[in-house]
Amino acid sequence: MSSLVRSNGADAMDYLNRFRLDGKVALVTGGAQGLGREIALALSSVGARLVVTDIADGGGQATVEAIRAAGGEAVCAVHDVTDEPAWEAAVATAVSAFGSLDVLVNNAGVESGSLVRDCSVEQFRQIQDINVTGTFLGCKHAIRAMSPGGSAGRGGAIVNMSSAAALVGVIAHGAYGASKGAVRSLTKAAAVECGRLGAGVRVNSLHPGLILTAMGEQLLDGLITLGLAPDRAAAEAALLALHPLGRFGEPVDVASAVIYLASDAAGWVTGAELSIDGGVVAA
Ligand SMILES: NC(=O)c1ccc[n+]([C@@H]2O[C@H](COP(=O)([O-])OP(=O)(O)OC[C@H]3O[C@@H](n4cnc5c(N)ncnc54)[C@H](O)[C@@H]3O)[C@@H](O)[C@H]2O)c1
Repeated sequence: MSSLVRSNGADAMDYLNRFRLDGKVALVTGGAQGLGREIALALSSVGARLVVTDIADGGGQATVEAIRAAGGEAVCAVHDVTDEPAWEAAVATAVSAFGSLDVLVNNAGVESGSLVRDCSVEQFRQIQDINVTGTFLGCKHAIRAMSPGGSAGRGGAIVNMSSAAALVGVIAHGAYGASKGAVRSLTKAAAVECGRLGAGVRVNSLHPGLILTAMGEQLLDGLITLGLAPDRAAAEAALLALHPLGRFGEPVDVASAVIYLASDAAGWVTGAELSIDGGVVAA
């Protein structure tokens, strides 16, 4: 832990430094666009070297190019989070490219956009597979790698992307809410396990409100398609009304929270659920 010297000669904690990730290696899933892209850029901006993965865009090639253009170091990998051998390969890529794995952000996810009464079992299962099984596999392989004796072996932090929809009911998001509720519970169990077994790994979940990424736009469109709002303006107004701060979120709102949870600033935070939602859950 580094410290500064105050003008009166007393030691003071270098708090800014506690948020930096110099020398750390971070893996972000679903990093080709939206929140994952911004999270990868954010972690790079505070010093981490990045493995960006995605099922699309060559595994997040455009994000890697943006990181390199800003002076950071990153590689990408095509990676379906439901595929266990692909997880083993992604973790191995982090270790072979940069010598470690210190931070995992389980960000990849999909939404449902259908009413419970209309959701097919195939659609329900697909959402659980990507959002829940994908997050479980990430936790499993990151914990193995980060724990003492693992391929990285120096502890770390896992941030699981849940949602406000895990904590409150959202119409047309039954399958999605169920999946994000499972991510919340998995996070707490993994956090307790890692703490009790001395893995040196912290595990926390993030619960964003609405951000107008491709997924956020899909949610708005879904309200219109399902006849729950007559047009775009009405859909936006209805969803905005759920957010007491009076605006939708921006990817930087979520990325800033990831920096905190990934860093030493959150060194005593594990099993927590952090709402980044403009007040949705508080209302
Ligand atoms: N946008 C929001 O309002 C919001 C709110 C709360 C939580 N979230 C969560 O944040 C995360 C990111 O959302 P976003 O808004 O950036 O969505 P997005 O649709 O813009 O991006 C999701 C990314 O995940 C990738 N992906 C999908 N399936 C995958 C798979 N099987 N393997 C690997 N990658 C896969 C996609 O290719 C895409 O790049 C998701 O977990 C989402 O549920 C989003």
